Amino acid sequence: MSYSPILVIADVHGNLEALSAVLNQASGNFEELWVLGDIAGYGPDPNLCLELLRKYEAIMIAGNHDFAACGKLSINNFNFEAKQAIQIHKSILSEESKSFLRNLPEIIVRRSITLAHGNPENPIWGYVIDNISATRVLAAAQSLLTLIGHTHIPALWALSPGAGAEPLRIEYNKEFHYSTTPHLANPGSVGQSRDGISTARYMILHPELKTIIFRSCPWNREATRKKMQKRGYPESLINRMAPK
Ligand SMILES: [Fe+2]
Repeated sequence: MSYSPILVIADVHGNLEALSAVLNQASGNFEELWVLGDIAGYGPDPNLCLELLRKYEAIMIAGNHDFAACGKLSINNFNFEAKQAIQIHKSILSEESKSFLRNLPEIIVRRSITLAHGNPENPIWGYVIDNISATRVLAAAQSLLTLIGHTHIPALWALSPGAGAEPLRIEYNKEFHYSTTPHLANPGSVGQSRDGISTARYMILHPELKTIIFRSCPWNREATRKKMQKRGYPESLINRMAPK
């Protein structure tokens, strides 16, 4: 039996240094690349990130920042910092990038796995932040495995009959099996970590073996800081993406 592992990433947010570090670290360990939305928003290199992902022939879905940065979604529902980031991206994204983002699907089922940025019910804006929202998603799941992004926090839940979604403690480089009950997984963010750990996060998925491995990857924060400073980003956005 031949296996074709998949590199699963989310929330790149225009951070080329973090994306390149992940692609280098995972090199040789994947044959497909899946991107769970928010390629744009926040970081200094949305065009280059998009180019690189297209070179890898990545399977991509849209996130809220992607649709806002290309003008498909109003920025009214975003917080102040996100609005600032989207305005910057509106001005630096090429027309070609905007057109590509505008045409991204909101949800995909591939190799019997569902991919959505927020959640399958509300792919662009829905959040899965706790056991209650995870239970709702898993109770309605059409696939044994559902993949999401959006929160920037790595997470894994398993549906336990009668008990709802049970969170599993994330351990890096460990194999999690999802063969017996529906699972919901979030790889965390490549470009803008929000759990106090500044590494880029991703997953290696083996659909044939029904396993997930969470991975963590250091990246060059100083290079990103310098780029953002040079391009006049507000200090708050720089510190959020690339803390010292
Ligand atoms: Fe995001």
